[in-house]
Amino acid sequence: MNRLKCSLLLLALVCVACREAQHNDSGTDNPSFSGERWYSDEQVAAGALVFQQNCAVCHGSSAQGTVDDWRERLPDGSFPPPPLDGSAHAWHHPRSVLIQVINEGGVELGGKMPGFDSVLVADEKLAAIAYFQDFWSDEIYANWLQMGGVN
Ligand code: HEC
Repeated sequence: MNRLKCSLLLLALVCVACREAQHNDSGTDNPSFSGERWYSDEQVAAGALVFQQNCAVCHGSSAQGTVDDWRERLPDGSFPPPPLDGSAHAWHHPRSVLIQVINEGGVELGGKMPGFDSVLVADEKLAAIAYFQDFWSDEIYANWLQMGGVN
């Protein structure tokens, strides 16, 4: 059952990302990356604090992950916390989906991440995203824009 729920969670996340990507393709134009990012240095600094206090225990203090292979299921069938530093697939999800994951977590779908809906305010969630996105290379960031970016 856990396996099934996990697959459903992943599928749901991937599907949303795909819908966003398609939306973009059929939209006006693909965003071209100007070198500017959506967040400020202040948001990254604020996010560092939020991240260390709420996320680092599972995702690593530099969002590098805490396990050798995040693709390998744990004995209970769930997936370990993936890195968020651009080396895994967080960049497949537009910002609205990242916020949704932070709000809802994965527990209800058989995952392990707790939801932060009522734990963090909106600015803190955005700051946490700014913090881990600041580890992303320009290439990964540009790919994220193609996947929906700040939508
Ligand atoms: C108790 C461990 C734990 C904590 C604390 C935690 N996460 Fe997670 N996170 C996970 C796991 C495990 C997953 C994979 C989905 C699942 O199993 O729920 C995940 C998935 C994610 C994803 C989706 C990544 C992807 O590649 O699709 C994002 C984004 C995320 N977490 C952000 C955060 C942020 C931001 C915080 C802090 C506010 C946080 N997480 C706190 C364990 C955690």
